[in-house]
Amino acid sequence: MDNRRLGTTQIEISPIGLGCLQFAGRGLAAQFYSSPEAITEIVRTALDSGINWFDTAEMYGRGGSERALTTALHELGRSPGEVVIATKWSPAMRIASSIHRTIEDRVAALQGYPIDLHQIHLPHGGFSSIERQVRAMAELSRAGRIASVGVSNFSARQMERASEVLRSYGLALASNQVQISLLKRDVERNGVLATARRLGVTLIAYSPLRSGVLTGKFHDDPALVKAMPRIRRLLSGLSERALVRTAPLIDELRAIAEAHGASIGQVALSWLISFYGNTVVAIPGATKPHQAKESAAAMNLRLTDQQLTRLDELSRSGDE
Ligand SMILES: NC(=O)c1ccc[n+]([C@@H]2O[C@H](COP(=O)([O-])OP(=O)(O)OC[C@H]3O[C@@H](n4cnc5c(N)ncnc54)[C@H](OP(=O)(O)O)[C@@H]3O)[C@@H](O)[C@H]2O)c1
Repeated sequence: MDNRRLGTTQIEISPIGLGCLQFAGRGLAAQFYSSPEAITEIVRTALDSGINWFDTAEMYGRGGSERALTTALHELGRSPGEVVIATKWSPAMRIASSIHRTIEDRVAALQGYPIDLHQIHLPHGGFSSIERQVRAMAELSRAGRIASVGVSNFSARQMERASEVLRSYGLALASNQVQISLLKRDVERNGVLATARRLGVTLIAYSPLRSGVLTGKFHDDPALVKAMPRIRRLLSGLSERALVRTAPLIDELRAIAEAHGASIGQVALSWLISFYGNTVVAIPGATKPHQAKESAAAMNLRLTDQQLTRLDELSRSGDE
């Protein structure tokens, strides 16, 4: 599958990137996931499998994920500029000038790798308006500190506002990172997808495997649900009832996967990066090298129109 442009920028990204929340190492975010076995091996596998970009954030272990990712890239001999890096500023309890104040921290944590995309992590939690935050991002872009500006978890109206502010600087909003998967399709109802298409904004789908549910592993072994950290159980919407509700979708994914010699998760990712055309790219996370390899290989899978439609229909009854 061909690379895609990030929004209307000149930045080319693979339809699947690697989510690096799993590299947080410490803090609240780290507790959601099991510790990755070997970050360098995960990053190597992702790159060898055709992934050319990585999504990280200040909030993931207070820079721990950014440092772990770029340490791995250095170890693998990848020069700055060879890969695309997206990170995020956290607005929690801060005012917009913190975007300027913390840029040196981001640069330090990324150890020489440029910021291709800087995102506002959340539309709430900060003490300044979205307008002020976006203006601060625009100033960083004008100063050449970041290559493009994105947002995350923004509504359609908030995207419009961010886009307007950026336009006044001669810039365009590159992306909105939101949760999308076969089990989370509210972008179709809340105007985010339509707005993204109209504005030429890329939607970066986070939790595209619904925290692992769309690999079928919890359906195969429901005992895994209980073993999951509580926070992650809440985030993934997993419960015994949810397993029952989503079983027909998982069964269909399994049948399609068998027909292609692929895995359930690969079919779920392939649907996500095909069904919405070029607007949606996905950033599955991985705690093991083989997971990164498997997710990346979804870029080589071609589902038929009939399979795409069948999954569309079935997922509507499992979607929350
Ligand atoms: N902007 C935001 O607010 C926001 C919020 C959440 C996430 N994100 C971003 O999105 C990325 C991905 O989201 P996510 O990590 O929440 O969910 P996800 O990608 O849907 O799920 C990742 C988890 O699925 C499991 N998995 C992956 N490949 C697998 C395979 N082949 N077989 C079995 N299990 C597999 C792993 O679980 P185990 O841990 O059990 O191995 C992995 O930790 C994050 O890394 C982060 O960059 C952004």
